[in-house]
Amino acid sequence: MFRSFFSYLAKAAWARKIVAKWSIAWKMASRFIAGETLADGIRVIKTLNAAGINATLDHLGENTDSPEKARQATQDIIQAFDAIEEAGVRANVSIKLTQIGLGISDELTLENLLQILNTARKYHSFVRIDMEDSPVTQRTINILYKAREAGYENVGIVIQAYLYRSEADIRKLLEDCFKVRLCKGAYTEPAKVAYPKMKDVDANYDRCAALLIDGSLARECPPLSPDGKTPPIPGLATHDARRIDFAKQYAAKVGLPNDAMEFQMLNGIRKDLQDGLVKEGYRVRVYVPYGTEWYPYFMRRIAERPADLLFLLPRFNFK
Ligand code: FDA
Repeated sequence: MFRSFFSYLAKAAWARKIVAKWSIAWKMASRFIAGETLADGIRVIKTLNAAGINATLDHLGENTDSPEKARQATQDIIQAFDAIEEAGVRANVSIKLTQIGLGISDELTLENLLQILNTARKYHSFVRIDMEDSPVTQRTINILYKAREAGYENVGIVIQAYLYRSEADIRKLLEDCFKVRLCKGAYTEPAKVAYPKMKDVDANYDRCAALLIDGSLARECPPLSPDGKTPPIPGLATHDARRIDFAKQYAAKVGLPNDAMEFQMLNGIRKDLQDGLVKEGYRVRVYVPYGTEWYPYFMRRIAERPADLLFLLPRFNFK
């Protein structure tokens, strides 16, 4: 119930107008968000890199409603690549297709995506397309394939374990040598497309993680760059210690070395787990969002764990 309520608030323009102005909201959001500027993102990445952790930088924004704003967002993302190169930090970039035009047209989205991929290619870097809610799942996958047809290998996608379709999507994506990040899924979805119960999402997460680990052992894919890695490295995005343990044990059983898989987490969540995995020799990548459009991202984090709001209670006077 709480999850649906906060997911609703994430999309509600009226709530955004009110909540985004509260200084307490920003204070809470800043646990997850590097700051409002690109320089803030780079600063956080430097700290992560120093702890042996790679990053994926995300210029916050979604559901852009005009071609001008979509083009501006594209330029902002391109600047993020320039800043990563200039700072010499270890980071790639994550993007959302609705930020660069999916709400307007597939053509505009592809045009903007190809510009981003071209910049990433210049720097031998990689772009991860985040997955948004189920009405755009197939269009997001279609655009990924169009980018490949246009000659770009430096792009991967996110698949959400809560969707019934995801196991089949992963099989096809692996067959076609795409890099996949697996997450549980952050949107509120109807039972006709997604498992309503967390125990089923968890079971599907483990099934899909095993598929990705098997896929990584079975394939050699075209390198990203002359010095790039060839197998499709499984990107396992979760803070759930049980899911992580399952993946570690399964990989050990089938013989995938620790450094051939990557655990991914969100900035501000389970730093203890991140550091522990680095010590054990796993690759770890942290998603670092920055920008002024932090409201929907923050609301999705609260939807996942409404208990985080409890710390506000002492600040209100109920007398
Ligand atoms: P789960 O929600 O079961 O949480 C496990 C534990 O993690 C909790 O017990 C708690 O300790 C901690 N935790 C989780 N969320 C927390 C929070 N908000 N605050 C504090 N602690 C928290 N989703 C999507 O739909 N599309 C996408 O493209 C992406 N991309 C993405 C990238 C990366 C790198 C990550 C880590 C996650 C995503 N997600 C996403 C979000 C993902 O779908 C999911 O909503 C969150 O990761 C939370 O799910 P967990 O797997 O962590 O499990």
